[in-house]
Amino acid sequence: MRSVYGFNDNWFYVPQETEVNSDLSTFTEVTLPHTNRLFPYHNFDDAEYQFISTYRKTFRLPEARQGRRVYLTFDGVLSACTVRINQHTFPEQRGGFVPHTYDITDYLNEEGDNHLWVWVDSRERADIPPFGYTVDFMVFGGIYRDVTLRYLEPIHIENVQIRAHGLLTDAPSVEFVVTVRNETDKPASVTIVAKMAFWTDEYSEGIVEPHSTTRLTAWSSLRDMPKSARQLWSLDNPKLYDFHVELADTATVTSAQERLYDRVTVRTGLREAGFAQDGFYLNGERVKLFGLNRHQMFPYIGAAAPRRLQRRDADILKYELGCNIVRTSHYPQSPHFLERCDEIGLLVFEEIPGWQHIGNEDWKTLSLRDVRAMIERDWNHPSIVLWGVRINESWDDHDFYTRTNALARELDPTRQTGGVRFFLGSEFLEDVYTLNDFSNDILEPEKTPHLVTEFNGHMFPTKTWDNEERRVEHALRHARIQSKQFSMGGVAGAIGWCAFDYNTHKEFGAGDRICYHGVMDIFRLPKFAAYFYESQQSPQQKVVLRPATNWALGDVKEGLIEPVTVFSNCEELVVTIGGVVQGNYKPDYARYPNLPYPPFTIDNLDVRLAHPYGDIQFVGLIGGEKVAECTIASEKLPRQLVLSLDDEAIYADGADMTRLVIRAVDTYGNTLPYALSVVYLRLEGEAELIGDNPFVLAGGQGAVYIKAKRERGKVRVEARADRLPAAYVELNII
Ligand code: GAL
Repeated sequence: MRSVYGFNDNWFYVPQETEVNSDLSTFTEVTLPHTNRLFPYHNFDDAEYQFISTYRKTFRLPEARQGRRVYLTFDGVLSACTVRINQHTFPEQRGGFVPHTYDITDYLNEEGDNHLWVWVDSRERADIPPFGYTVDFMVFGGIYRDVTLRYLEPIHIENVQIRAHGLLTDAPSVEFVVTVRNETDKPASVTIVAKMAFWTDEYSEGIVEPHSTTRLTAWSSLRDMPKSARQLWSLDNPKLYDFHVELADTATVTSAQERLYDRVTVRTGLREAGFAQDGFYLNGERVKLFGLNRHQMFPYIGAAAPRRLQRRDADILKYELGCNIVRTSHYPQSPHFLERCDEIGLLVFEEIPGWQHIGNEDWKTLSLRDVRAMIERDWNHPSIVLWGVRINESWDDHDFYTRTNALARELDPTRQTGGVRFFLGSEFLEDVYTLNDFSNDILEPEKTPHLVTEFNGHMFPTKTWDNEERRVEHALRHARIQSKQFSMGGVAGAIGWCAFDYNTHKEFGAGDRICYHGVMDIFRLPKFAAYFYESQQSPQQKVVLRPATNWALGDVKEGLIEPVTVFSNCEELVVTIGGVVQGNYKPDYARYPNLPYPPFTIDNLDVRLAHPYGDIQFVGLIGGEKVAECTIASEKLPRQLVLSLDDEAIYADGADMTRLVIRAVDTYGNTLPYALSVVYLRLEGEAELIGDNPFVLAGGQGAVYIKAKRERGKVRVEARADRLPAAYVELNII
């Protein structure tokens, strides 16, 4: 039977290319995921991660092989790597966004030490997608995802695909498509057994030729599953089930001594999802898609974010940004991120690596490999509803895209394809016309199904410390475009550019190597535009009341502080200045007629200079009851430094991390965007502070990360800034 071991520990690293058996004293011990270099959050160059580095690891087999084969899987290495085990060197693997597996059995030292070497080439090589031309994002380097060691019988399950059929009919069923590998020298007669709690086992038999794979299929009717227990995966109830598959030697299947080769459990959800001419349907119900694009990079650590941070991004998109879909621009993203999307009910449009440029035939072959690897890795994620099989924003290429589409459809007939283009009139070889629409509007669909996969972005870059009018306008552009798409039957949805600010090359962004296109900053902290997204959730999920104002009378053009925009899902707002009631306000349906929760446009405020300038208070009402309240100080002075950790505890595994947010706030806890304080951090305890220290607040806010070592215990962080009381926070390492 199989055994699986995490293989992230006890690696040794040197940031240069070295010979085998070179001086090991120059190496330092690291735990994966690992970035080939740590960075400040901005003002550094991509040249700093574009080099070849060396990783090595010495290990003994964790258990006896007992005839099984041993495989080593890398979930992601940026952007190419060469793996050597003892005396054997494997051919170079190119491409950093999909997993690769090596059968190391024949090169192992079964009793003694094994020496593993990995040379990682993190240069942006023109022979590897997405490179060949400049791309608008930094890619970073290192063994930045997990590594696992697996023992498998020579005859084993290589992959399982669960396909659900007819879920909305009276005859729903589940198809198990099982890829079986035979690494012996003889043909093997095998039986797969599909199991689930609710039905009797289903069997299917076949022969697997030596050193090859075959696909076996078993069908199970869901009719035996009690209706009350049959829950479809949905946005509000993302129910997941475990499906089990066993693989046995056919001759033994009915005997008491059944020879079982393998057993695999796949967790997935049952749902029917698809795009029709008039929009997107989930389980037969039309759902307007409302979302943002996500890049996988984080401040300081490049792409090497551990599981907790990957999962947290999904939570931010769903709960802090109220999105129902995310696009994994522009490459397959972390399995941990996708797993969390499944768990919380966040839809995903996943795409292959690429950005505007199509390379030569060799490059295209790698890109087709990416299509296959992405789909074979991710086909059991109920959250994924569309495969992106074009290079983002490339020109048409009839032959290439005919092949990427055909491959995707063959591998996964249950999902549609999209391919992101940026010009009308582009050849439509996919199932869904996915368009980056930078018209500052939503263009009438030329072809349907039509999904807007980007808008805004470079049309209006905005920083957290920009002036207020710009930050409000940035938010309202998102609001206007989303409002428009809600009115258009032929538009399935709109996915804005983008969720988070990201590191980029000098040809893009603000020159400091950040593209300030996010509705949140690079630390995942909100701009006003984030409040717009957040406010579109139902108040049953979360009551939102977010004034998009700094309430500073002299910082807007011509002294015109009004109207004040408030993003809220309340039915009514009562506004008071300095205790004087200004009026009751309703959502602005006139300007944003189609949004679920239009912003409030607050005008007719009594803010004449003669009038005492007081604190402004917003009270949110639903059904006449007060459900939320927010007050912004007129005083505008930083009163407190607030530290907040995303987690109370993290694991002592040498890689786990949590975010520590730092904000300078007014008396009521509102972030002060122009508080540029220098914050000095001091960490006590066994953990590492990852990030700039001292930290200069950007837009009154920012973050660093606390990374666990291998010791358990308490960690305390102290923050000090001039003229503010010191702040403290504690974290448990468990
Ligand atoms: C698009 C591109 C994105 C990003 C965006 C900026 O053209 O697909 O990756 O560069 O522009 O607005």
